[in-house]
Amino acid sequence: MVDREELESVCKRRGFIWPSSEIYGGEAGFYDYGHLGARLKDNWEDIWKDFFLGIDDNYHMIYTPNILPYRALKASGHVDLFSDVLVHCMRCSESYRADHIVMELTGNNIEGMGAEEIEDILEKNDLRCPSCNGVFSETEDFNMMFSLNIGPTGEHKGFLRPETAQGTYMNFFREYRALRRQMPMGLATIGSAFRNEISPRQGVYRLREFLQAELQIFFVPGVHDTYYEELYDEDQKVRLLRDGEDEVKFVPVKELDELPIFYRYHLAKVYEFYHDHMELPHESIRLRELSDEEKAFYNLIHFDVEISMSSLGGWKEVGGIHYRGDYDLTKHQEESGTKMSIPIEGERVIPHVMELSFGVDRNIWALLDCGYHSKDRDWLSIPNKCAPYHVAVFPLVRKDGIIERSLDVFTELNSNFRAFWDKSGSVGKRYARMDEIGTPYCVTVDYDTLDDDTVTIRDIKSKEQIRVNISELVDVIDSLVFGEKVFNDHFSE
Ligand code: GAP
Repeated sequence: MVDREELESVCKRRGFIWPSSEIYGGEAGFYDYGHLGARLKDNWEDIWKDFFLGIDDNYHMIYTPNILPYRALKASGHVDLFSDVLVHCMRCSESYRADHIVMELTGNNIEGMGAEEIEDILEKNDLRCPSCNGVFSETEDFNMMFSLNIGPTGEHKGFLRPETAQGTYMNFFREYRALRRQMPMGLATIGSAFRNEISPRQGVYRLREFLQAELQIFFVPGVHDTYYEELYDEDQKVRLLRDGEDEVKFVPVKELDELPIFYRYHLAKVYEFYHDHMELPHESIRLRELSDEEKAFYNLIHFDVEISMSSLGGWKEVGGIHYRGDYDLTKHQEESGTKMSIPIEGERVIPHVMELSFGVDRNIWALLDCGYHSKDRDWLSIPNKCAPYHVAVFPLVRKDGIIERSLDVFTELNSNFRAFWDKSGSVGKRYARMDEIGTPYCVTVDYDTLDDDTVTIRDIKSKEQIRVNISELVDVIDSLVFGEKVFNDHFSE
């Protein structure tokens, strides 16, 4: 359990993440990644790519621009529908997202409710501004996209993309042909998205510029179902909170027979990513089904991935599993006049989309929140592959040739792993510094090393140490960081 202030302080002090443009007082909703945060983020993205692109040989990365023309976002529905309800305080002029202020003042979740209904609630309950007790203005719909003019004359209107998905949809047909018309086809991208959030709060949870990792899977329901049926492990269990229920259930996906098989297959895959690859315990993960009012306007089936984070007060959304039907390709076909349909069994059909969408920043925060321990010592437990450094090397003392020997060991490890060399302070302090940033293994070079070519490896989790010969060191660290081995396997050898 960590509180937000404590975690933010560690993140700033150690070089993970902090508010952007700090020297000018900052601007709410923008964050910078420091040297350790950048490594953690890059590692998370690599694991994400390995896992989700590894699902199928026909899943690929693409990259598209941050700025999109007006017509693209008019077609997608974002110009008309991508809004939140806004109210101002009439006394102090503070702006609030109306559903959030109702939630804060009454405890009721009214996400998805329209402007007029929310205005009724504010009036009937005489809800007032929490800062100054002023009355609220009328509610209004506020479009969350950042608009801009493209080119020197400003005649072309555009927007910063509110989701990475749209660039992918516009490339569907080109990639379908380039990839020799094979289906299902997956196109993934990782990049920035921009939303002019009304009141960005809770650190990296609600940003105005953030990173998304999204995989769009194009397929035809009824035609590709057998493909998913063959792949999926029907006994795999997922923790689900169904719409209208209070209790999370841990159920095998085969029991969810009201959901199509292609959807169940992806629920299981996303759950596997969080449990097996992000190494989060079952009790910290749940997949929550959204009600019709809460669902995004393009979704037919919508579960959010939620992680329990003590620094943010409980369950928080980090991703979404969206069945968008043929909504997006149909809209782009209508607006652009470009064909999006493919021939299936003698007919032309517009493919449907399963979207697996993740907020990178929220996922990084979830790892830090769930991994940070401060009870007996401060240490970070994150998957070895995610750690900014895999291994640190310490000379026990700074004399008798131990520094030189430790530098040899460091050079060899650094050419195989992300390694760090540290000679300053007591070994205890050096362990503590590495514990705080989640370095899973620390190697110490001591006087015995000079005699018998052995070093100690210390494990962050158990604090246990083993002695190994330097000739085996790379293999042992490799099996610990990337292999199936855990530290205790080495004890029992
Ligand atoms: N393409 C689908 C899409 O954009 P979304 O639920 O609006 O769906 C997907 O966003 C994910 O992006 C969310 O689950 C969340 O992790 C992240 N996200 C959305 N808005 C965010 C914000 N303002 N700040 C940080 N992350 C955000």
